Amino acid sequence: MKTFYVTTAIDYTNGSPHLGHAYEKVLTDVIARFRRLMGDPVWFLTGTDEHGQKVQQSARRKNVEPQAFVDAVSAEFRTLCAKLEISNDDFIRTTEDRHKRVVQAILQQLHDQGDIYKADYTGFYSTRQEQFLQEKDRNPDGSWPEIYGEVTQITESNYFFRLQRHQAWLAEHIRSHEAFIFPRYRAKQVLEFLKEPLNDLCISRPRERLEWGIPLPFDSGFVTYVWFDALLNYYSAVADKPGVWPADFHVIGKDILVPPHAVYWPIMLKAAGIALPKSILAHGWWSINGAKMAKSTGNFIHAAEYCDTYGVDALRYFLMREMSVGQDSDFSQAQFLTRYTTELANNLGNLVNRTLNMTNRFAAATVPEAGPAEAPERELQTLWAQTRDEVIGLHESFQFHVALERTFAFVTATNAYIDKLAPWKLGKSTEPADQARLRMALATMAEALRLAATLLAPVMPGTTDKIRGVLGYAPAAAWRDELNWGTSLSGRKVAATAILFPRPQG
Ligand code: ME8
Ligand code: MG
Repeated sequence: MKTFYVTTAIDYTNGSPHLGHAYEKVLTDVIARFRRLMGDPVWFLTGTDEHGQKVQQSARRKNVEPQAFVDAVSAEFRTLCAKLEISNDDFIRTTEDRHKRVVQAILQQLHDQGDIYKADYTGFYSTRQEQFLQEKDRNPDGSWPEIYGEVTQITESNYFFRLQRHQAWLAEHIRSHEAFIFPRYRAKQVLEFLKEPLNDLCISRPRERLEWGIPLPFDSGFVTYVWFDALLNYYSAVADKPGVWPADFHVIGKDILVPPHAVYWPIMLKAAGIALPKSILAHGWWSINGAKMAKSTGNFIHAAEYCDTYGVDALRYFLMREMSVGQDSDFSQAQFLTRYTTELANNLGNLVNRTLNMTNRFAAATVPEAGPAEAPERELQTLWAQTRDEVIGLHESFQFHVALERTFAFVTATNAYIDKLAPWKLGKSTEPADQARLRMALATMAEALRLAATLLAPVMPGTTDKIRGVLGYAPAAAWRDELNWGTSLSGRKVAATAILFPRPQG
């Protein structure tokens, strides 16, 4: 069976991690965990993109060597992954030898094939920003914005990668491979871009201008630049692992779909004779309290602080519940608290409390044996079967927000079942029929809770484990089989109490 290979974008190390990075990692983690639970072998890669002008500048400003600078920032990204309970199998850094070797080998191959050539480039250059400017960078009156300092026209030699050779092929590939770009509506944007003849991609910078990069194997006066280096991480990380390439999913943000991932990347692979990834999943962008995330305005959400205050699963839940994959969303403290309180604490948390309380009170903390199902149990069991099948399908089509909504609707229905059966009333009766109904109610709520918790595993793995733990339960079968309504809880000793989602302080 081919390994299901899924990647995130690799993050720039010129700044610290932010909510966008956290979201992308959680999203990819949910995909990876779901596939593993379904029984597929999975390889999950994330990492950091460590070369380039900005890193060189940031390091210089801090008076440290670029390597020391990226070591520190890359470690921050690793810490974030651990905090978010990301289950990545590997973490690649573009400054590693295993990556540089592959980049150089492919550059050499493409150069030998005639896909890479040297040419002069003339353009407007900002010495302060150390970059070439485009016409679109000008002020409306034609002058250059202050931030660029002095702008002069210069001519520079560089290496270029030929794109047009594969342009028609790529358009055809996108048209004929429905799954190549997800959500599908973004394919239009790519095809639109491919209507104009592609300019060849400048892949180098002269060494005197940019030291911090991978030297071109055929001309040591140059280093390779940005995308050629970064995109190859997906391949270099698994080049020596049989049965992993091609990637099944590259998970990225919408800003780096066109042209890097949807145009440069497939053409690079095609030119090098390497198989193409099966799919690119472009997610939307988070704003914060209605505003674009920006260092200048300081409106950063620190994912780690949310994990510390509310627990990692509360953040993972919110990110997956709030955003529809592909669309943009807003992160606001108020909306987070609303979902935390109503959905996690008052719905799921309440079901946990009631189950434990009543089992302790009426059954000596031991889940009773289930009796014959009557109409309320049959209804709940039918709803469960529908929910489970639907949620699995929704995971397969990346509709995690709907999957969570459905799962929580089942939790709501279970709470309603408890209200209807009113075990606290049955507990006061000594009638054998009432006692039997009471035992059935306790067995039913415990089983419904176990099932809902199991279904939440890709998104809230820690919560799944905790709920299993307080039910005195350890899973014995494959995840898919654990999702069948059964009687495996009967006779289990439950915990006295558990507070999964404590009420926020203050
Ligand atoms: O682009 N909301 O790195 P990066 C959601 N190194 N996602 C966001 C976001 C937001 N507000 N802001 C950023 C790079 N992202 C390159 C990638 S891949 C071979 C090289 C996402 O650190 C963004 O869309 O700027 C991207 O997928 C990821 O964070 C890393 O962004
Ligand atoms: Mg970016």
